[in-house]
Amino acid sequence: MIELRDVSKTYTLNADQAVEAVRDASLSVNQGEFLIITGRSGSGKTTLLNLVGGMTRPTAGQVLIDGVGPWQLGDRERSRLRSQKFGFIFQFPSLLPSLTVLENVALPAMFSADGSGQEDTRRAQELLELVGLAEKLHAYPRQLSAGQQQRVVMAHALLNQPAILLADEPTSDLDEQTEHEIMQLLRDIYQRTGITILLVTTPASSSHTAPARSRWLPARSSTDQPDLAPIFLKTPVIAA
Ligand SMILES: Nc1ncnc2c1ncn2[C@@H]1O[C@H](COP(=O)(O)OP(=O)(O)OP(=O)(O)O)[C@@H](O)[C@H]1O
Ligand SMILES: [Mg+2]
Repeated sequence: MIELRDVSKTYTLNADQAVEAVRDASLSVNQGEFLIITGRSGSGKTTLLNLVGGMTRPTAGQVLIDGVGPWQLGDRERSRLRSQKFGFIFQFPSLLPSLTVLENVALPAMFSADGSGQEDTRRAQELLELVGLAEKLHAYPRQLSAGQQQRVVMAHALLNQPAILLADEPTSDLDEQTEHEIMQLLRDIYQRTGITILLVTTPASSSHTAPARSRWLPARSSTDQPDLAPIFLKTPVIAA
């Protein structure tokens, strides 16, 4: 369902400076797969997720989501594709401080004029229960711990019932115990929903899941040495 063919992304900084963040990445991910992507800082992990999610336009190669190339679509169709197919957990997520937990999760619903708002609010509540925050619906972000805030972000990412969850280092700011809990929650969500997950994480965090299949995705670091920082991809076994 996700297909990357020889995808590269070069950021052009100015006339004589460019950063080759991802080079010739080929990748296919089937529905229901849980893929862990690790690699050192600057190896292109976030760029890769943004390429998959149709947020960054590749400078070469092709991205296909269920056979559809996001960059063959117009802006409006591409953003519809994004919001229908993907849930995003960004590397530096932020909650709106003046909204409650429930409002943060149900945010899109607050702007919808089509009457789906009530349904979305109900779903937001269910998701917050799923992530263990039933008691915090009406709390404000500042009243939550970092791990609890990350749970809110996860609930928000699942609101539209996406087929694919893109999670960029969701545990990077957390202590080890909380990190473990968030990873466990991700596995629970995976088992319950069968959602496809692409998770960027540090090698240490990925050890919480046992690998069944490993492969290297050749990518280029921002330095000139080729293949210095490959992105390590592995599909963990998720015990039923
Ligand atoms: N918008 C941008 N403009 C220019 N260069 C960028 C941009 N985004 C990323 N880069 C560069 O591309 C390279 C890959 O960045 P990316 O954020 O994808 O790495 P990463 O693997 O996610 O790193 P980290 O683990 O630190 O989050 C880096 O050298 C970075 O400086
Ligand atoms: Mg990153």
